[in-house]
Amino acid sequence: MLPNVLQPNTTDHVPVLADEVREFLALEPGHTLVDGTFGAGGHASLLVRDLKGEGKVVAIDRDPSARPYFERFRRTAGVNTRFLRGDFSIILDQLAENGVHADAILLDLGVSSMQLDRPERGFSYAADAPLDMRMDPSADYSARELVNEASELELEQIFRRYGEERFARQIARAIVRRRRQQPFERTAELVDTIKAAIPAPARFGEGHPAKRVFQALRIAVNDELDALEAALPAAVEMLRPGGRIAVISFHSLEDRIVKHFFREEARGCTCPPDFPICVCGREPVLRVVTPRPVRPSARETALNPRAASARLRVAEKTT
Ligand SMILES: C[S@@+](CC[C@H](N)C(=O)[O-])C[C@H]1O[C@@H](n2cnc3c(N)ncnc32)[C@H](O)[C@@H]1O
Repeated sequence: MLPNVLQPNTTDHVPVLADEVREFLALEPGHTLVDGTFGAGGHASLLVRDLKGEGKVVAIDRDPSARPYFERFRRTAGVNTRFLRGDFSIILDQLAENGVHADAILLDLGVSSMQLDRPERGFSYAADAPLDMRMDPSADYSARELVNEASELELEQIFRRYGEERFARQIARAIVRRRRQQPFERTAELVDTIKAAIPAPARFGEGHPAKRVFQALRIAVNDELDALEAALPAAVEMLRPGGRIAVISFHSLEDRIVKHFFREEARGCTCPPDFPICVCGREPVLRVVTPRPVRPSARETALNPRAASARLRVAEKTT
C-alpha cells in the first residue's frame, strides 16, 4: 500500500447530505449503526455523536484503505466499533444470517474522494495512472482487463447503460481499434482515445469528455449495481422494527433500484385487483419515509460540487 493511504487526511472526504442523513436516521443511545460504505468515516463520525457513548457501530468497506480512517474513528467514537472489510452485499447477508440487528443502516454509494483523489488508483481521468479502478485491490478484474478484453458490443453497452454516453459506439470502436495495435495500460491512453473518438464540438460543454466512460467502467469493474440489488434485502432483514435504512445514490440507475425496492417492500397485498379477498396475506415490510428523493441544497452543492448528483432515500422497517 502506498504511504499516503496510511495517512488519513482530515480533508479527505466531505460527507454528502450529512445533516439530512443524521436527521432521518435519528440514532439514539444504545442503538446499532451499520455503515455499509464507511469510506473516510465522514458520516459515521457525525452519526456516532447521537449514540452519546452508548451503542455500536459496524463499519464496512471493501477498500482496505478505509481501515486507517476507521482506526482514527475508533479512537474517538466512544462506543463499541467493528470494521469488516468486504462487499457490503456479502457482509450484510452474513450479519443477517448470524442474527445481528441494526437500528440504522447507511449506504453512501459510489466512489469516495480518497479513491478519486489518489491517482494511483486509476479512478480519475484527470491524472495519468495505471488503468485500475478496483475498489477492492485484491479483486481479479480491473479496468485494464475490461478495456482490453471485452467485446466492442459489451463496451458499447457498458458506456451507454452505466455512463449514458451518447458516443458509446464510436468510443467502443476506437478502443478496439487502438488495442489491436497496443493494449491499454494507463488512464491517459484511454482519455486520448475517447477524445479522438468524439466529434470535436461535443468535446466541449458537457464536462470532461472521458467523465461518462470512466464512470461506466468503474460501475462495471466493481459490479456496483448487482451489489446494491443484493444488499438491499439483506439490509432490511437486519433492521429492527422501527429501524431505518438510508441510501445515497449518485446515478439514476442506482436511484431507480432503491426506489423500486422500497416501493415493492412497502406494498401490502399483491393479489390481483379483481380478487374479492386477499389470499396472499402479504404485509408491508417497509414504510417509505422520503416519497421523493432528498437532494442537496444549493449551498451544499456550491461548497462540495461532488454532492450535485446525490439523491437520498430513506425507509423504515415496519414489522
Ligand atoms: C461515497 S464513499 C463513502 C464515504 C463515507 N460515507 C464518508 O463519509 O466518508 C463510498 C465508499 O463505499 C465503498 N463501497 C462502494 N461499494 C461497496 C460495496 N459493494 N461494498 C463495500 N464497500 C463499498 C467504497 O470503497 C467507498 O469507500
